[in-house]
Amino acid sequence: LSHNFSSTTSNNNAVQNIAVFGSGLMGAGIVQVAAQNGFKVTMVDLNQEFIDRGKEIINASLKRVAKKQHKDDAAAQKSLIESTWSNIETNTDSVKGAEKADLIIEAIVENLQTKQNLFQQLDKVAKPDAIFASNTSSLPISDIAKATRRLDKFAGLHFFNPVPQMKLVEIIKTNQTSEETYNSLNDVIMKMKKAPVICKDTPGFIVNRLLVPYLMEAIRLVERGEASIKDVDTAMKLGAGMPMGPFELCDFVGLDTLKSIVDGWRKDGKIDASLVASAKSLDNLVESGHFGKKSGKGFHSYS
Ligand code: 3HC
Repeated sequence: LSHNFSSTTSNNNAVQNIAVFGSGLMGAGIVQVAAQNGFKVTMVDLNQEFIDRGKEIINASLKRVAKKQHKDDAAAQKSLIESTWSNIETNTDSVKGAEKADLIIEAIVENLQTKQNLFQQLDKVAKPDAIFASNTSSLPISDIAKATRRLDKFAGLHFFNPVPQMKLVEIIKTNQTSEETYNSLNDVIMKMKKAPVICKDTPGFIVNRLLVPYLMEAIRLVERGEASIKDVDTAMKLGAGMPMGPFELCDFVGLDTLKSIVDGWRKDGKIDASLVASAKSLDNLVESGHFGKKSGKGFHSYS
C-alpha cells in the first residue's frame, strides 16, 4: 500500500506507472503516447533486439509529432523528444518490468495461450491492485483474464494503428470488470488525449466488427470480377471519405492479421457465417508470404 500513501496526486488510485508488454508497432505506439502525456512507462519485451526495434519505432514517430506540434521551433521539438524519453524505461525481465506498474498493457503476439501464460505470471508479481489490460483485437478478453485472479481488474484497451495518430481507444468491459477499473482506464485514456468508447466483450468489439466484414466483402467483390482493386480503393476514398481504400487498409493492417481474425471468428461461430466467409485471394497471398505493407507486397506492391 505504500505507493498509495506516497502518491502526490489528489487521486490516490490514479495510475502513474504503466508497463507495456510487447514493443512491436502497437506496443511501441502505446509506450510513446503514454510517455508523451506524462506517464512513467516501462517497455518490456523478450530481448534487447526487440526493445531496440521498438525504440526505433518510437523515435521515428516522435520526431514526426514534435515537428508537427512545434513547427519552426527546434528547441521545443528537442524538449518534447527529451521529456518523452525521460519517461521511458525498458526491461527484458518481465518480473522486474511489472514491479512498479499500476497498469499493465499487453500488446504481444495474438495467441491465447501465450497471453494467458504471461498474465498468469504477472498476476503473481504485479502489485495486488494493478490493473491488467490486453490490446488484443481478436481474442475474448474474458478468456485471457481467466489466467488471473483479478477478474475485476482486467479489461481490454484496444488501440488503433498508427497509435500516435488514431484518436480512438476501445475500453472493453467483461462481465467481471469493476466500475472502479473502468473509471481508472477511462481516466488514463483521457490523459493520453485519446477518445474512449466502451464496448462489451464481443468479437471485434466495435471497430473491427464493422471494419473486417467490410474489408472481406471488398476482397470478394474483386474476386467476383465486379471491379478492380484500384477502382474499389478509389471509390471508397472519394465516395465514402475513407482515408485509405479497403485494399490499402488490408495491406496496412497486415494480411496475416486480417486472415487470422477472420479464421478465428469463423471457427468461433458467433458471427453470421457469410460475414466471415474466407476469400481465396487473401488466403493465397498469405500462403505466399505476402503480408501487405510490412513485407513489401500484398494487394498492392510497396518499394
Ligand atoms: N506517428 C505519428 N504520426 C503519424 C504516424 C505515426 N506513425 N503516421 C501518420 N501520422 C500522422 C502524420 O504526421 C500526419 O499528421 P497531420 O495530418 O496532422 O499532419 C497524419 O498522420 C497523416 O499522415 P500522412 O500525411 O503521412 O499520410 P496519410 O494522410 O496517408 O495518413 C494514415 C496516414 C494516418 C495512416 C491514414 O491513411 C489513415 O488514417 N488510415 C486509416 C488507418 C486506420 O484505419 N487504422 C485502423 C486500422 S484497424 C486497427 O488498427 C485495429 C487492429 O486491431 C487491426
